[in-house]
Amino acid sequence: MWVVFMCLVALIAVWVSHWVYIWQNPKCNWKLPPGSMGFPLIGETLEYFTPHSLYDIPPFIKKRITRYGSLFRTNLVGQNIVVSTDPEFNYHIFKNEGKSFLFWYPESFTEIFGGQDILTYHGVVHKYLKNLVLHLVGPENLKAKLLSEMEEMTRKHLTSWARCGTTVDIKQVSSEMVFNYFAYKLIGYDGLEGTRKLRENFSAIINGIISFPLSIPGTAYHACLQGRKNALKMIKEKFDERKASNKKYGDYLDHLLEEVKKEDTILTEEIAVNLVFGLLFATYETTSTALTLAVKFISDHPRVQAELAIEHMQIIKNRQRKDSQITWQEYRSMTFTHMGNELHLGSKTFMGFGGGVRLCVGADFAKVQLAIFIHQLVLNLRWTVVKGGDIIRKPTLTFPNGLHLQILEKHL
Ligand code: HEM
Repeated sequence: MWVVFMCLVALIAVWVSHWVYIWQNPKCNWKLPPGSMGFPLIGETLEYFTPHSLYDIPPFIKKRITRYGSLFRTNLVGQNIVVSTDPEFNYHIFKNEGKSFLFWYPESFTEIFGGQDILTYHGVVHKYLKNLVLHLVGPENLKAKLLSEMEEMTRKHLTSWARCGTTVDIKQVSSEMVFNYFAYKLIGYDGLEGTRKLRENFSAIINGIISFPLSIPGTAYHACLQGRKNALKMIKEKFDERKASNKKYGDYLDHLLEEVKKEDTILTEEIAVNLVFGLLFATYETTSTALTLAVKFISDHPRVQAELAIEHMQIIKNRQRKDSQITWQEYRSMTFTHMGNELHLGSKTFMGFGGGVRLCVGADFAKVQLAIFIHQLVLNLRWTVVKGGDIIRKPTLTFPNGLHLQILEKHL
């Protein structure tokens, strides 16, 4: 009996060590770079998600660069992956997307995006969807329509924050401002209550998108999938509402529905709904995070704040001599060219908007929104940070205690 038990234990031990060996040395037709696959099933996910500071290379990455070099293998959120920290190589990957490399997201992401969105498609369909988005946020529409609307919308919000008699958390209010405006532009969402509900669903999605993909009630991933379900339902209702009405609004939702009706189109209503979902997701946190970060950096450097005010006053003076409207090219170059030059960022080390055919399609929209906001903030208002400003990456960038500003109009 004792011998049988010992044999069983030995067999289990051999099986477990074989399983661990297979886990740590995944099959590959080519030679894999060095690295560790971590613990079975969870890989190195927990270490990857450990919160860290903004101002250094993430410890997870730093440790592995020291140990293995710029290219290493690991396992995160249930996927075996190779991480490249080499800017030249990353640039090469972006340039060869669709040729030697194929863009791909982990399965947990695909489940959230539904597999019918711009990120999932390649080649002709991807190009078609990209152009469809550019119809709304590309340079043409920015120049013709959005720029003056965004100026007006930003001015209104900044003034209301200055007059509200209390401090505002710039992360929260700017997130609401950008999301509400974009939801309105995309599908005509303008009811305050409805937009708040839609925003809450995207908040759940963002909180769970980079989390361990375990879908049981109580987990962030589960809440994220619920958020997707609810948000899709709300978007779909808007499509149905518009189809049932005979009225034409001439907005982006009309444009999408007209595209769906065309005979030779690739666009189905399901893809269009998923596209809107993806775009709201892409807008929800990105622009407001960049905006809050910019305000934080400026407030940390009073000299920069003073120089910005002089520079922007100069822009206005020059404009009044020619034509009073600031052009989108001027807005576009205001923030990012200066920031890039200051930080000596080369195009291969600063790829905040991705690269190659996957370059962020909303980059111009985001840059212009950022420039308009900074322009109006430094020119028309006095403001000070009164609370918050801590920044944590886990690994997405968060402001755990917000960034609270006291804003006053300059003439007060
Ligand atoms: C500061 C703000 C933003 C940043 C930093 C940013 C960053 C990025 C990055 C890094 C990518 C590449 C993703 C990848 O390669 O996996 C991307 C793609 C994308 N972004 Fe943005 N984004 C911003 C704002 C926006 C906005 C406002 C929109 C809405 C129009 C948008 C729409 C998209 C879309 C649709 C893609 C996918 C492009 C494709 O696959 O061809 N982004 N963005």
